[in-house]
Amino acid sequence: MSVTKAVIPAAGLGTRFLPATKATPKEMLPVVDKPAIQYVVEEAVAAGLDDLLFITGKSKRSLEDHFDRNAELEGALAAKGDSDRLSLVQFPTSLGHIHYVRQGEPLGLGHAVLQAEHHVGDEPFAVLLGDDLIDESNPILPRMLEVQRELGGSVICLMGVPPADISLYGCAAVKASDMPGILGISDLVEKPSADEAPSNFAIIGRYVLSPDVFSVLRETKPGKGGEIQLTDALRVLAQRGEVHGVVFDGLRYDTGDRLSYLKAVVSIAARRDDLGPPLRAWLEALVAGGFADLA
Ligand code: G1P
Repeated sequence: MSVTKAVIPAAGLGTRFLPATKATPKEMLPVVDKPAIQYVVEEAVAAGLDDLLFITGKSKRSLEDHFDRNAELEGALAAKGDSDRLSLVQFPTSLGHIHYVRQGEPLGLGHAVLQAEHHVGDEPFAVLLGDDLIDESNPILPRMLEVQRELGGSVICLMGVPPADISLYGCAAVKASDMPGILGISDLVEKPSADEAPSNFAIIGRYVLSPDVFSVLRETKPGKGGEIQLTDALRVLAQRGEVHGVVFDGLRYDTGDRLSYLKAVVSIAARRDDLGPPLRAWLEALVAGGFADLA
């Protein structure tokens, strides 16, 4: 069965980015000139997933407005004959079939994904976490969908991280498989300490899941941080031999982390045709001048 549905949890409070996220959802922070969440939606659509379900919470109105028509703004741009900006404004509304469900209570990522059960039904589906921005030069979702088609079960995305960083992520115990770039997953632990981590393979926020995860999530008790963790439900499926790992070695940014967010903005802008040449020249001069002030 081919996957067409993407679930995008976007109910988090964005506490790492306060005060910017006091009244603005973290997903709406701009990365150059688009909100971070639009990159994630574009990635899903590029991989053939045009049914998008956002799991939202309180204060996410601007996210919904971004993917909706804005008659007043469109009318003003049309009246000025500004067709370039008009198409930029209309583009997010044309990306796919967008749906919303609210999480109600912030009980964790596993609980957020469980809210998708009614919409997803009995078919495999993708989950894309809004904080993880995967550079479009090296997408991983198409490969994950292919692996799920070939092997069934659920597929997670893994990235090697320094041991000191593993406590920020879900971590996988892996075993070799016959297929290049694919690992068997024998166990999963949410945010282990460096001592307890079974490997340095971190789970990155892209998943292609079997609908079997829903019945497991319904039974999953609160885990790390008192939250219902997606990793804990996937652990049950992994112990049944039903989870495969795809190793990602491209560029990924955590836009919920301030430093990684800044890197995303600078590196995406530096590679754009319009902003790249003057930005790179300015950065080179800034570094050469030892960060003395520049105009
Ligand atoms: C979530 C998951 C974690 C995963 C991470 C990837 O954690 O619980 O397993 O490694 O996303 O970004 P969060 O970053 O929401 O705390």
